[in-house]
This record gives sequence, C-alpha cells and structure tokens, in this order.
Amino acid sequence: MNPQDITARPGENAIFIIFGLKNPKKARGPVKDLCGKLPALTRSLKNRFPELGISAVMGFGAEAYEGLFPKRAKPKELEVFQEIKGKKHVAVSTPGDLFFHLRAGRLDVIVELATQISSALSQVAHPIDETHGFRYLDSRAIIGFVDGTENPERDEALTAAAIGEEDPEFAGGSYAMTQKYLHDLTAWSKLPVEEQEKVIGRHKYDDQELSDEEKPTNAHNVVTNISSEDGRELKIVRANIAFANPAKGEHGTYFIGYAGSFSTTKKMLENMFIGDPPGNSDRLLEYSRAISGTLFFIPSWDLLATLAEE
Ligand code: HEM
Repeated sequence: MNPQDITARPGENAIFIIFGLKNPKKARGPVKDLCGKLPALTRSLKNRFPELGISAVMGFGAEAYEGLFPKRAKPKELEVFQEIKGKKHVAVSTPGDLFFHLRAGRLDVIVELATQISSALSQVAHPIDETHGFRYLDSRAIIGFVDGTENPERDEALTAAAIGEEDPEFAGGSYAMTQKYLHDLTAWSKLPVEEQEKVIGRHKYDDQELSDEEKPTNAHNVVTNISSEDGRELKIVRANIAFANPAKGEHGTYFIGYAGSFSTTKKMLENMFIGDPPGNSDRLLEYSRAISGTLFFIPSWDLLATLAEE
C-alpha cells in the first residue's frame, strides 16, 4: 500500500499549507515535479535529523485533481466538501487545491521544507492558508483537554486511515478533512470544570472517560462515536494541533482527520453540526467556530510517483 505518513502522531510542531492553483493545466509541470521531488526532500531531512520524527503529507482537492490529471479516474469519495448546516452551527466549505501537512520535533526544519515546497510552486500557486501549530502542554487541545486518546493505533490506525481494496486503484491513499476552529476561550474559561467535562465527555486533569451515565447526549465524544450498520465502531485518525496568537485573542484547533472512507468523517461532522436526532448538536460548538473546511485526497507514495510521471 505504501501510504504517506497518514497515521503519524500530531507531533511537536506542524505546518499546514493550503494552496490555490491559478490554472491547473499550466500548473501541471511544477506540481508533477514536486510530486517526484517531495519524497527525496523529506528523506534528506529525515536522514539529517533522524531524531525529529519528520513527516510530510501532500494532497489534492477534488477540482485540482481533475484539472491536473484529467485522464485519470478519481477516487470514489473525492468531492468538494459541501457545507453542513445545522440549526445553530455551520461547517463551512472553503477552497483548496494543494495541501501539505508537515510535522517535526523542531519548527525550523519544517519551515525549511515549507520554503522548498513554496518555491517549487511559486509561479503557479497562491497560498490560501498557512497555519503553524504546536503541541500544547501534554498533548492537549488549547481548551485544556488531552486530544487524541481514542485514536486507533498500529494496524487499526492504517485500516481506519487508508483506502482499502474497495477502491483498488487508490489503495493506501486517504481522505484528509481539514477544519480550522477558533475557540471562545473567554466563555469557555467561565464554564466550571465539571461542565467542561460534560462538553468533552472526559475528565480534564487525568483524561479519564466519564461513565455512560455521566455523559450527556451532546458530549463531543458521544456525537463523534459512530458505528456501522453491523455494529462495528467506525474510526478515523486525528492529528489535531493547537495554534494561537494570544495578543490578538486568537486560540484555535486545527482539526485534521485521515480516513479510508470520507463518509465516516462526514457522518461525524453531521452528528456534530446537525445532530442525530437533529438539534442534538455537539456542545463543543458553542465554544468553537469552524472558519475553514476542505477535503483533500492523499495519494499513496506509489501513486504520487506515478502522478509525477503522468
Ligand atoms: C473544535 C475542534 C475539536 C476539538 C478541540 C476536539 C477535541 C477532542 C477531544 C479533547 C477529544 C477527547 C480525547 C480523544 O479521544 O481524543 C476528542 C475526541 C474525538 N473527536 Fe474531537 N475535537 C474537535 C473536532 C473534531 C471533529 C471535527 C471530529 C470529526 C469529524 C472529531 C472527532 C473525534 C472523535 C472520533 C473522538 C473520539 C470519540 C470517542 O471517544 O470514541 N473531533 N476530540
């Protein structure tokens, strides 16, 4: 399958970059070159700094994939993310053609990689968003709760994050849903800790799960806990990271969920924003506003190499 680093941990530092393409046809040359070069650029940094857990992921929005590779089939679930609108909350849809998720134990190293990527694309792409995130304390979201505990691990992580034989041409690829959230930390910090714990469904200090009786139906870990029709728990691999500009009063979470099937992530988003039943939306959204929302296809390393030759 040879997947990209879709199951890596969130890391100490992450840079997320979303580019728009001025003209996919004209961009084809530089983008294909980069598909060919990215593995070597990353490998070089990994060799030079083996202790830093460096990883790089490259992906494509639906329109860009079609525009860049018009002769190729498209992954079954690749689409432009459609806004999800509940009574109170909206998961907005925002544009994005190329996507990069860079992680390392030191920020300077991924700034170096981001610089190389940006210079390779400078003539054909414009930046839509670049977010620099950091590990906050002991892997907490900026709202103070440990984030990532229920993530699947090892084989289970790959099964959750990677496309399988149901779409063989794209096996080892992944659907990465990205959303940038801003939190209302003033309102959140006024909420007593016991209430915050009911919002998340876990205890704040020691990260223990609340009992089923204690968890309200609109707790975050209730609405995002979903199962298939035959009762199997459906999982995605999350690598959320905190970002902040305290002087501007900006505190956020960059959500990224890698899934082998986008419908899993979509169902979680519908449960959060609309609610199941409708109206039972995620209480976390009372304190968190999504300001972006874009879906990307992450090809396997093998497919990326094929695209470079296309
Ligand atoms: C405002 C942005 C978000 C924040 C701050 C956040 C934070 C958290 C925290 C603290 C937990 C509990 C610990 C853990 O198991 O990781 C959690 C669980 C979870 N979150 Fe989020 N999350 C956010 C958005 C999302 C989104 C958009 C999705 C899915 C589309 C999602 C899916 C999940 C899942 C599947 C779990 C595990 C639920 C379970 O216990 O089975 N989260 N999140």
